Amino acid sequence: MGHGLPLRTRFLCIAILAVTYAQGQVLSTPPNSSSSSSQYHVSAPLSSPELERRIDDLLRQMTLEEKVGQLNQYSAGAPTGPGTGRDDYSEMIAKGKIGSLFNLAGAEKVNAIQRIAVEKSRLHIPLLFGLDVIHGYRTEFPIPLGMSASWDTARIEQAARVAASEASAEGIRWTFSPMVDIARDARWGRITEGAGEDPYLGSAIAQAYIRGYQGDLTSPDSIAACAKHFVGYGAAEAGRDYNSAEISEHTLREIYLPPFKAAEAAGVLSVMSSFNALNGEPSTANAFTLRHILRGEWGYRGLIVSDWTSIAELMEHGIANDGATAAKRAFLAGIDMDMESNLYESHLAELVHAGKVPQSLLDESVRNVLRMKFILGLFENPYVTGARNPDRTIPQTSRELSRTLAEESFVLLKNDASQGRAMLPLQAERGTTIAIIGPLADSSIDMLGSWSGKGRAEDVITLRKALELYAEPRGIRLLFEKGTPILGGDGDFTNAVRAAQNADLVLLTVGEEAATMTGEATSLVALELPGKQEALVSKVAAVGKPTAIILFSGRPLVLTNVASKVGTMLEAWFPGVEAGPALVRTLFGDANPSGRLTATFPRSVGQEPLYYNALNTGRPADGVDLSHPPLNGDEKYHSRYIDETNLPLYPFGYGLSYSSFTYSQPVLSTSFVSAAGLNRSAPGAQVKVTAQVKNTSQRAGEEVVQLYIGQRGTSIARPRRELKGFQRIVLAPGESRTVEFVLDRDALSFWNVDNKFMAEPSEVSVWVTHDSASGTPVKFAVEE
Ligand code: NOJ
Repeated sequence: MGHGLPLRTRFLCIAILAVTYAQGQVLSTPPNSSSSSSQYHVSAPLSSPELERRIDDLLRQMTLEEKVGQLNQYSAGAPTGPGTGRDDYSEMIAKGKIGSLFNLAGAEKVNAIQRIAVEKSRLHIPLLFGLDVIHGYRTEFPIPLGMSASWDTARIEQAARVAASEASAEGIRWTFSPMVDIARDARWGRITEGAGEDPYLGSAIAQAYIRGYQGDLTSPDSIAACAKHFVGYGAAEAGRDYNSAEISEHTLREIYLPPFKAAEAAGVLSVMSSFNALNGEPSTANAFTLRHILRGEWGYRGLIVSDWTSIAELMEHGIANDGATAAKRAFLAGIDMDMESNLYESHLAELVHAGKVPQSLLDESVRNVLRMKFILGLFENPYVTGARNPDRTIPQTSRELSRTLAEESFVLLKNDASQGRAMLPLQAERGTTIAIIGPLADSSIDMLGSWSGKGRAEDVITLRKALELYAEPRGIRLLFEKGTPILGGDGDFTNAVRAAQNADLVLLTVGEEAATMTGEATSLVALELPGKQEALVSKVAAVGKPTAIILFSGRPLVLTNVASKVGTMLEAWFPGVEAGPALVRTLFGDANPSGRLTATFPRSVGQEPLYYNALNTGRPADGVDLSHPPLNGDEKYHSRYIDETNLPLYPFGYGLSYSSFTYSQPVLSTSFVSAAGLNRSAPGAQVKVTAQVKNTSQRAGEEVVQLYIGQRGTSIARPRRELKGFQRIVLAPGESRTVEFVLDRDALSFWNVDNKFMAEPSEVSVWVTHDSASGTPVKFAVEE
C-alpha cells in the first residue's frame, strides 16, 4: 500500500489520526463536466460558530444513553436488507434512543412519529427520516447507469431536484444516494445504481446529484445526500456482490476515491461505508479510509453511517468475535451511525464507561448527527407541512424531464444500412405493419428499474401504450407478441415468427427483469440475454425482415451473438415513467439518440472486468491479428486471449446517432508546459485544446465530445487513455463548432510512484473524439 502508515499502526492511532492527517496531503479536486472547475463549489457551509454552540448546548444536557441514541438508525418500513427490525419504535423514540428512521414515508406517518420525538423525548431532538431515493421518488427517471449515459450533468441535477422536492413533501430529508462506486465489472448487479466505470465522469455526476438533492440546504424541500459505498465496493472480486476487494492504494486514489472526493467538495452531508473488506480490512472498520483519508486528508465534516447491519457483519468478516468488539471497531474507525445492527444501542454506552471508547469521540459522532439535523432545519421545522396529496398525478414538467433524460440515455449501439438505408429512424406509412415481439414491450414494473423509491407501475407509459397512441391516427398496424418470458419459457416461437412474417418491420423488446436481475445481490456469471431470448432473436431475425433490438437492461450485456443477427440495436436501460413516449420519439426520429456508454460492453463475460482506462502492459497486442488463435511466437507472446479478441463489443463513450459528425485534429495552444509550473498552479500553466466538430448530416443532432489524454515517460504506468473533459453540444445540419478544453494541473497530475499527487515530465497524447476507442492523438510535452 504505497508509502502510507502500516495498517495496524493506523488502526491503533485512531484518536489522533484525524488531527494529524488534517495537515496531510489533500487530493486535488477532480475536474468537472466541462474543462471548467467552476462547479466545484461547496454548496453550503457545513457549519457556523453559532450552530456549533447550539450543539455544545445540547451535548451538555444529554445523558450518555441519549447520546448513544442519536447514533442508532432503524428501518421502520419495508426492509431493504435482511430483517432485524422491530414493530414499534415509539417507546425507544420517547426515551431518546433513536436518531434516525428510514424506509418510512408519507407526511402523516412521518409527522406522527416525529411528534413522539419532538414532544415526548426529554430534549425534543427531532428524528431524521431517510430513504433510498435512487433515481426518483414518485417521478421515476432512468436508472442511474442510464442517466449517466446522458452525460448531461445539468439534467441529472434537475432530476435529483425533482426527487428531493417530492421526497421532502412526504417527510424524507435524507436519501442514500448517489451511489458513486466505480464499477468495472458488469457481473456486479449494482453497476445499475452508479455512473459506470470512469472516475472523471463519475465525479461530475456525483456532484450533479448532490447539488440537486441538497440544493439550498436551508430550504425544506432540500434533502441530505449520501455518497456511498465508501469504498471499493464496486471492485467486488469476480463481480460477486459483497465480495472482498483488493485495490492497491494507488488504484484506490486514482479510480475509486475521486467520486467521493468530488462529493465531499460538493458539500455532501453524509457518507455510507461499504459492506466489503478492502485489502482485508472491512470498510466499516477501516480507519485508513474513514479517518485517515476521508476525515483527515479531506477534512470531511459530515456524517458517516454504516450500511445495513455492516457493523454486525464485522463478526462474519472475522475481525470481531462478539458484538461489543464489532461496535468498538466500527466506532473507533469512524462510523458515526449504526444502521440496523443494534450494536451501538447494546454496547456503546458500556464501551464508553469502560474507557474503551473515548467520551470525546462519542461527542464528535453525536455532533455530526446533530449538525446534520440543524443544517436541515429540523429543529425549527420538524414536521412536513403543506404535504401534497400522494395520489396526485406527476406534474407535466417532471414527466418532460424524465422523458428527455430517457431520450438522452438511449444508446444506439448499431444501425447498419442495408439497401442503402439504416432501419432507424423508422419509416412507417399508413398501412405499414410493425411487429413488436418480446417480453418487455408492456412491462410497466420493469421500466421503473430495480430501486424505484415510491414509483408506481400505473404511472408508467410503456412502449406498447405509446406505440398504440402513435400508430392509430397514422394508420400504422401493430402486432404484439410476447414471444417468451424473460426467464423460462417453452421455446415455442411459432406466434412470434408468424407475427414477424406478417410484418414489414420488427422490434424485439428483450432484456433483463429489473427487480430480480439488477441491483443489490443480483450478480451474474452469464451476461447473454437471459432465458430463451437469444433463441427468440435468432428465430425472428431469420424471418428476414428489418429487425431492431430494443434492449432493456441494468448492466452491459454480452450481445456478441445477437448483434450478428440483427442490423439495429438500441440500449434503452430501464427508462422510468416516460419509457414509452421517449422510445417512440426516438424510434420515429423526433428525438435523435445521443447517449454514450459509461460502462464497457464486453464481447465475452470472460473478459470481465473490462474497462477502457487500462494500462498498456509490457506486451500490448496492438497490431496483432486477434481474430484467430496465435499462429506463431509473434502472435502469441502478447497480453491477449487465444479464443477471443481483447476488444470490447462496444467501448466506453460509444454511441451512434442519426446524424453523423466529423472531428478535426485537435489544436494545442502550446507544445510544452512545465511540470514545476503546473505543480505551483502558476498562471498560464495549462494547455488549451480546441477541435472542430461538424455535423455532416441533414439532421440536427447532439454529440458528446470527449477529451482523452495518455501520458508516457512517467514514474508510474498511466492508463492508455483517461477521460479529462466532455461537452454535450447540439449541432444543426451542416453546422461546425469549435470546442475548447483546458488541461490544467488537475488534469495533468496523478498519484505518482511516491504516492504524491503531482504533474511529472511526460509525453502527453490528446484525443478529442467520439469515444474511448477512436481518434488520432496530437502530442505535447510536460517538461521539468
Ligand atoms: C443496503 C444497501 O447496500 C445500501 O445501498 C442502502 O442504502 C441500504 N441497504 C439501505 O436501504
